[in-house]
Amino acid sequence: MNRATQEEERELTNQNGSRKAPFRTVVDAVVVLDATEFLDVCTPDELQQSGSICVVPEDQEDEIGLFYIQGEYFAVSNICKHNQRSVLHEGAVCEHVVECPLHNWRYDVRTGNSVHNKGSLKTYRVVLHEGRVLVEKPQYEAPSWTF
Ligand code: FES
Repeated sequence: MNRATQEEERELTNQNGSRKAPFRTVVDAVVVLDATEFLDVCTPDELQQSGSICVVPEDQEDEIGLFYIQGEYFAVSNICKHNQRSVLHEGAVCEHVVECPLHNWRYDVRTGNSVHNKGSLKTYRVVLHEGRVLVEKPQYEAPSWTF
């Protein structure tokens, strides 16, 4: 199975049935990276020891909760949909579900979906490259609402 096919198989379906970008991408140095699209976060050991960290990009379009769970890496928005608090990296993790430490909303870090059907967190690609954990940079999204 080639790498592209493996990546495609990792795609999951959103709660509303639409396709999402791969929630996790662990690749090796064969992949050519565009450094402008990824943030260099830490070493795998650092993340494995803590289990999760919060990544705050310079432009602060979003804050990212980066998780190491059962040998895999996952990245979702760190901002809880309930009160817009950036706390999810501090939540307890059970299987692939992180529980917000403030009021217990829970999200699957593989998909970003709330397990209570209360919306979805953005997911970000994670890449292991030359001994570093890289995470996809959040992109600015113009508001979808209009007056
Ligand atoms: S802020 Fe996360 S559940 Fe309330």
